[in-house]
Amino acid sequence: MKTYQNLKTELKEGILHVTISRPQALNALNMETMSELGAVLQEADHESVRAIILSGEGEKAFVAGADIKEIATLSKEEAAAFARRGQILFKQWEDFTKPIIAAVNGFALGGGCELAMCCHIRIATENAKFGQPEVNLGIIPGYGGTQRLTQLVGRGKALELMMTGDLISAQEAKNIGLVNHVVATHAELAELAQKIVSKILAKAPVAIAQLIKSVNAGFDFEKAGYEAEAIHFGECTTTQDFKEGTTAFIEKRQPQFKGK
Ligand code: CAA
Repeated sequence: MKTYQNLKTELKEGILHVTISRPQALNALNMETMSELGAVLQEADHESVRAIILSGEGEKAFVAGADIKEIATLSKEEAAAFARRGQILFKQWEDFTKPIIAAVNGFALGGGCELAMCCHIRIATENAKFGQPEVNLGIIPGYGGTQRLTQLVGRGKALELMMTGDLISAQEAKNIGLVNHVVATHAELAELAQKIVSKILAKAPVAIAQLIKSVNAGFDFEKAGYEAEAIHFGECTTTQDFKEGTTAFIEKRQPQFKGK
């Protein structure tokens, strides 16, 4: 396997363990990490890899979102392009025809929740927290969250989560169908991920691939929702509220939104 700046990889008995590793920024997805997530998926498209388990480094976060410091200065056009690039990458993960499990230990917020949602199965430790808190920054989810959260939990709950920016516990995420299983510890999370993958790998690989393709075909990426999300994500970045939201995050204070 290649060496990555922000990913740790280990191939063990056909399972590629990918760990996002930027603990100083709670594993936030900067552009370099996004491009490495594309490269590692390409590497995984090889017969030696039969499944992927994706996790975040450390005890605190799976991924705390897109890197806010990087998006703070994007123009409308740059922001829409940024969202489209992320959407395409996450679609590649979703369409990968070998099983991918997100093992979520800690925060899965914004782009982090969106990354977990493009994996085929999500499991979490009980300290994990999920949410789409982009509204606190004056923006909306941009990596497919408006679509996949709605698919997974239904329109009403998805809108509530995205409009309030509330963070929910792993147990609540399980109750609404965002997460499949919750365990107590990090060690149990790794064990469960391994157990689920082993069960799937005992089945016929072609049937598994056809299952993934069939399920995904019902959630057509070409539908207008993803493109609308990218455009509206871009539009949000033209507001004073976006400047205020991102500046407030960086200055570690509450934002004062004005509706312009
Ligand atoms: N981007 C960049 N840096 C981040 C980050 C992010 N998404 N999340 C956390 N960090 C950084 C913090 O700036 C901080 O860095 P410094 O030590 O240099 O100040 C470090 O990680 C630790 O974070 P906190 O001090 O904030 O830790 P905390 O325990 O007090 O709070 C938290 C944890 C609640 C997760 C908080 O960090 C937080 O709210 N993070 C942002 C979550 C968020 O809004 N995510 C959405 C991003 S936008 C997006 O993802 C758009 C999209 O859809 C594509």
